[in-house]
Amino acid sequence: MNVAVIGSGGREHALCFKLSMSKKIKKLFCIPGNPGTSEICQNIDIDYNNFSLLYESLLAHNISIVIVGPEVPLVAGIVDFLSSKNIFAFGPNKKASQLEGSKGFMKKLCKDFKIPTASYEEFEHFENAEIYIKKSKHPLVIKADGLAAGKGVTISQTIEESLKCTREIMNGKFKTSKKVVIEEFLEGEEASYFVITDGKNYLPIGTAQDHKRIGENDTGPNTGGMGAYSPSLLITKELEKKINREIIEPTIKGLNQIDCSFVGILYAGLMIKDNNPKLIEYNIRFGDPECQVLMMRMNTDLIDLILSVKNKNLLNQEIIWKEDPCITIVAAAKGYPDKYEIGSEIKNLENVKTNDAQQIFHAGTYKKDKKILSNGGRVLNVTCTAPSLKQARNKALDILNLIEWKDMYFRKDIGWRVIN
Ligand code: AMP
Ligand code: GLY
Repeated sequence: MNVAVIGSGGREHALCFKLSMSKKIKKLFCIPGNPGTSEICQNIDIDYNNFSLLYESLLAHNISIVIVGPEVPLVAGIVDFLSSKNIFAFGPNKKASQLEGSKGFMKKLCKDFKIPTASYEEFEHFENAEIYIKKSKHPLVIKADGLAAGKGVTISQTIEESLKCTREIMNGKFKTSKKVVIEEFLEGEEASYFVITDGKNYLPIGTAQDHKRIGENDTGPNTGGMGAYSPSLLITKELEKKINREIIEPTIKGLNQIDCSFVGILYAGLMIKDNNPKLIEYNIRFGDPECQVLMMRMNTDLIDLILSVKNKNLLNQEIIWKEDPCITIVAAAKGYPDKYEIGSEIKNLENVKTNDAQQIFHAGTYKKDKKILSNGGRVLNVTCTAPSLKQARNKALDILNLIEWKDMYFRKDIGWRVIN
């Protein structure tokens, strides 16, 4: 069986790292991949958003299973397209992908099936939003309805800021939609909870804590994620049962009732307060960088899970985890998430020993004349397991200190709420 992972970031490198250990896979590909994935599988450098071209390439390499990393091709209908060509693509179809592709869709599902979430209103006309904003208690959360690469959410402290954000979104700041969702601000601590589902049944596939803010002690603007650890210490067995009962199960059932069965990875972004979970958002894929810590901790063969989703017998599976916790620290380009340079050389990676317990996943790099250069905001993910989170973090920090890259920025405090 030949398998391909779609995507080019740290999440996809981590998926390839995990899949490359499977004895069931004859040949593993990453489309387009990155310099990190090229060490463990074959990269195919094509634009996967061109579905016809992708299909030709899959045929040429005899690939029968495709695992989709990012949300953009899922929302664009990659699964529908490939299944019409008899290729199994792991992930939700276009209709179910609205769970991430449209905040309005997700919020309506919550309303219709009584899933706990922040109260909200949706607006298409500025005048209506303005009336609502002026009478609402702040802070208020202003969101673009469509995909915005993690940049579509503002926690606004004042009426002026709320009006400004709303106007910007309605004027087309994010190309995916001009609709605005305005939400109540939820207090508490955040956690990421993942399940894998075949449309009917599901299995929990790990918990993690992302660190979205750029600065230490969770300050500064939001990013795609500056680091994560797993498991989340917030989600106890008892809380997990509650999350499944109040959020995951009504979601899977509700989606089936509206003829929108969801297959793949369902990622619930949760706010926890007084042991009560509320849904902040759904994502329709593994988190990045949460996937990196989950793949390092998972002992079960990932392809077995994916095949059991394909064959609709997920409940025969059990997911086994390593005892040790895992942490990943994102090395970003100085200036991210605002302006930053690309193309600066990263040296000494080859002198870092990697094994089951420590990996450097490439997130935004490219290779030129045998040199590794930065190629994005989030560039490397140093990912380590150890008997304690503190030891894991120290290991990751030691590795970061070995990397020679003049533009590197990273948070030294990933896990700060639970370490010490
Ligand atoms: P989202 O893209 O919906 O995940 O939002 C990005 C981040 O904004 C979340 O991870 C939260 O930190 C924050 N956020 C979103 N919605 C809310 C809310 N209703 N209350 C508090 N924080 C929120
Ligand atoms: N780490 C957040 C995300 O993947 O959306």
